[in-house]
Amino acid sequence: MFFALFAAVSISAGAFGAAVAPRATCSDGTVVSNAVCCNFIPVRDAFISDVFEGTCGENAHSTVRIAFHDAIGFSKAGGKGNGADGSIIQFEDTELAFEANAGIDEIADELRPFAQQQGISFGDAIHFGSSVALSLCPGAPVVQTFVGRGNATIPAPDGTVPDPFDPVTSILNRMADAGFNSDEVIALLASHSIAAQDEIEPAIQRSPFDSTPAQFDNQVFLEVQLRGVLFPGNGSHQGEVQSPLPGEFRLQSDGAFARDSRTACTWQSFALNQALMAQKFAAAMGKLSLTGQNTANLVDCTEIIPKAAPAPRSQAFFPAGKTHNDIEQACATQAFPSTLSTQAGATTSVARVPEQ
Ligand code: HEM
Ligand SMILES: *[C@@H]1O[C@H](CO)[C@@H](O)[C@H](O)[C@H]1NC(C)=O
Ligand SMILES: *[C@@H]1O[C@H](CO)[C@@H](O)[C@H](O)[C@H]1NC(C)=O
Repeated sequence: MFFALFAAVSISAGAFGAAVAPRATCSDGTVVSNAVCCNFIPVRDAFISDVFEGTCGENAHSTVRIAFHDAIGFSKAGGKGNGADGSIIQFEDTELAFEANAGIDEIADELRPFAQQQGISFGDAIHFGSSVALSLCPGAPVVQTFVGRGNATIPAPDGTVPDPFDPVTSILNRMADAGFNSDEVIALLASHSIAAQDEIEPAIQRSPFDSTPAQFDNQVFLEVQLRGVLFPGNGSHQGEVQSPLPGEFRLQSDGAFARDSRTACTWQSFALNQALMAQKFAAAMGKLSLTGQNTANLVDCTEIIPKAAPAPRSQAFFPAGKTHNDIEQACATQAFPSTLSTQAGATTSVARVPEQ
């Protein structure tokens, strides 16, 4: 199927010589800058219809998460894997046994046969798939997307994926070792706008990290800045400061990043500016997808990634019952402005993200 499609492509040289990139017209009429991208048009469409079922739901979320867990298996010093190479699926017997990858098996089980059917590498399935997933989430930016990754050759060792109970310093050190500064880490955490947890507190599976988990908006940055409450009950999470919004789950690491002097101002800047958040996320996510890769060996197929619908609102809001008074101010150089409005109506429980 891969080669049949390729044969249907007609290549035309640029009219003005070498300075103009060659264009190709795919069998569906799409004109692309490299014929390789034609092969990914049916892959994109199958992702949307078969894997993501057309929505920014659990499978789209989990594909963005596996992209992180795959790519972060990397160290500038070497010895921690080869980055965004699909090793998390190729060597799943090794990597999915790591505690930090709990729950990743579900999406790996979808992407492995999908990649095989489509004739693409696991690395491309994960990182091209993540960009396609984001295109279903209103408000998400288009992330620069390359294809052509080869097969992974080594697994990542344990310990490359941050744990939500790790101190901020350990997480920032781990991320820096993989090539990401603290501003980029906070930008990447915009992904927690389309996220829920299963494994940290199994009693409340699918509880989201913000009140709008089907939208790539900046609510997560605002809601994690709300003053928290103590986790109810006397189980293993007793004493944790949790989201004050019923049904919403706050990762301890997100709560800490919002309040740490190294990251609080960047965190708040995203709560106050959705366009800035989307722009910084796009840059950091594109970089993440190229961790350990050489773009000279890859093809840029960003042009076939659909643009997501805009988020329903261009600014964050206070969920019903919350106001500016509920903000726990941490950024020392800019006070949270009192300009954002409160959602009308009574406090409601944040709905779980349905299983897919
Ligand atoms: C830097 C420290 C980070 C920590 C400690 C962390 C931790 C977590 C944890 C514990 C979960 C819940 C998993 C579960 O119980 O099912 C989660 C979910 C998620 N994370 Fe992160 N994460 C981090 C960074 C990132 C990054 C950089 C990305 C992507 C760019 C990402 C994307 C996601 C997504 C999309 C989900 C939701 C998955 C779903 O709903 O199926 N995370 N994260
Ligand atoms: C990657 O592995 C698959 C399955 O083993 C194989 O069919 C394919 O040819 C390999 N690709 C490359 C580029 O080596
Ligand atoms: C506290 O834990 C005990 C057993 O460890 C359990 O029987 C009891 O119901 C728990 N109470 C609450 C409020 O969760």
